[in-house]
Amino acid sequence: MPSTLDPDDVARWRRDWETMMRHYQPGRDDLLAAGLTAVEQIHGRPPERVLDVGGGPGTTAEAVLGRWPDAHVTVLDVDPALLALADAALPQVRTVRADISSARWLPPAGGPYDLVLALVTVHYLPEQRIHDWYAEARHLLRPDGLLLVADAMPEAPVSPRRQGCGTDPWIAWWTRLAEEPVMAPLLNERRAALSGLDPAEFVAPADWHGETARRAGFTHATALHQRAGHALMAFRR
Ligand SMILES: C[S@@+](CC[C@H](N)C(=O)[O-])C[C@H]1O[C@@H](n2cnc3c(N)ncnc32)[C@H](O)[C@@H]1O
Repeated sequence: MPSTLDPDDVARWRRDWETMMRHYQPGRDDLLAAGLTAVEQIHGRPPERVLDVGGGPGTTAEAVLGRWPDAHVTVLDVDPALLALADAALPQVRTVRADISSARWLPPAGGPYDLVLALVTVHYLPEQRIHDWYAEARHLLRPDGLLLVADAMPEAPVSPRRQGCGTDPWIAWWTRLAEEPVMAPLLNERRAALSGLDPAEFVAPADWHGETARRAGFTHATALHQRAGHALMAFRR
């Protein structure tokens, strides 16, 4: 991260990120709390190792550490600007830059993990890739490990459609960041890292995710939280 990045600015950008994400993910706080509570109930203890896939600026990682301060948390993302914000705010978290659009993300991801999270991330991948992604996420888990996936999952089946990260709050957040001269090098790096990565904006019902995860080898699929077309699913390895 650039040494000139002001901790107060980083805190503000990450706060604004959460406000923006709450717009896209109705009931976001309750959804995450339901997921973390389920992890404790299923395992009977806090997880030791947690991976947040597409963890962005680390706001979910911060919530995980707020609940389980001793956990070893890794944030994996393709975006160097978001990872820089995670690094700046959470020095105790390991950040990994990797692209989940092919299996090449597995070696840098490390593991095994007790818990793998993917919040509002899987829809970036095309349908065919998501099948393999579930198998890869399973591969990173310990034998009793758990995968939590949250995304837009409308109850009625729909054709794949764009799901909305391109609408105003998302653009507004990135526009504000681009107004900060100190972010210019990271945003240039971001442009290079993301060139050729076209978000698929794939959306499917919770049942589709359950069936896809089962085909990838997961034994149980449970919807832990559903609201306004968004769901949090838990999958047991
Ligand atoms: C809508 S944001 C959600 C971020 C975070 N999970 C949250 O809930 O605050 C989607 C995240 O997925 C990341 N992402 C998108 N495509 C990716 C890819 N191919 N590989 C790794 N991360 C990706 C983005 O950079 C972004 O951080």
